[in-house]
Amino acid sequence: MLIIKAQDYNDMSRKAARFIAAQVQLKPNSVLGLATGSTPLGTYRELIRFHRQEELSFCDVRTVNLDEYYGLPSTHPQSYCHYMQEHLFNHIDITPGNTHIPDGLADDPNAYGREYDDLIVCMGGIDVQLLGIGSKGHIAFNEPSQVFSTQTRLVDLNETTIEDNARFFESEEEVPRQAISMGMKSIMAAKRILILASGNGKAEAVKAMVEGPVDPMVPASILQLHPDVILIADATALSLLAQ
Ligand code: PGA
Repeated sequence: MLIIKAQDYNDMSRKAARFIAAQVQLKPNSVLGLATGSTPLGTYRELIRFHRQEELSFCDVRTVNLDEYYGLPSTHPQSYCHYMQEHLFNHIDITPGNTHIPDGLADDPNAYGREYDDLIVCMGGIDVQLLGIGSKGHIAFNEPSQVFSTQTRLVDLNETTIEDNARFFESEEEVPRQAISMGMKSIMAAKRILILASGNGKAEAVKAMVEGPVDPMVPASILQLHPDVILIADATALSLLAQ
């Protein structure tokens, strides 16, 4: 894993956006795996700036998102579909039909998950997968568990994730208890992975991901087995690393 130290959140975001922009310039029809949450917001802001000021075009880019809350319609203000429109897609020249986000209202979410994995294969696989990391080491909504989950499927969110995400809702009760999450198989099949971490709250998860054993109780630790992972993190997120 290549570790790039950023000075702070904005520096992390700039570095991540430069990396994605270079990918899009080199391969205009790249498949980008996209993430939600607070971590990638600055990266998306920078990409929008590159589009406006540096004519970076996304018109041939294809995207697949990691996850969606189960039970929320795409129009719900806290849905990840809404998040992507508001924070990226509405501000760039991406072709709407080229964007893919799990359907939070799928009737049979596990069958739907298998179709989503098949879709990623049909697109030629993910060129760059952008990831955040949860405070307990989850990636997408793959929560700590006894085994690594492979398929895209319906998952139960754990208490820490519900508490962490309550800040986006009026109250903790409103946070959906389930989500459709991309599984480890599609994430690990990405050609490159770009994982971002910022702030004290991620320091323990980053340490466990980088220096701990590969253990499904720290889902991000599976990234040690991927040949091309870049971690861009600020000093506080890296503060517990031995090196
Ligand atoms: P955050 O979430 O970016 O909102 O901290 C990260 C994650 O849960 O993967």
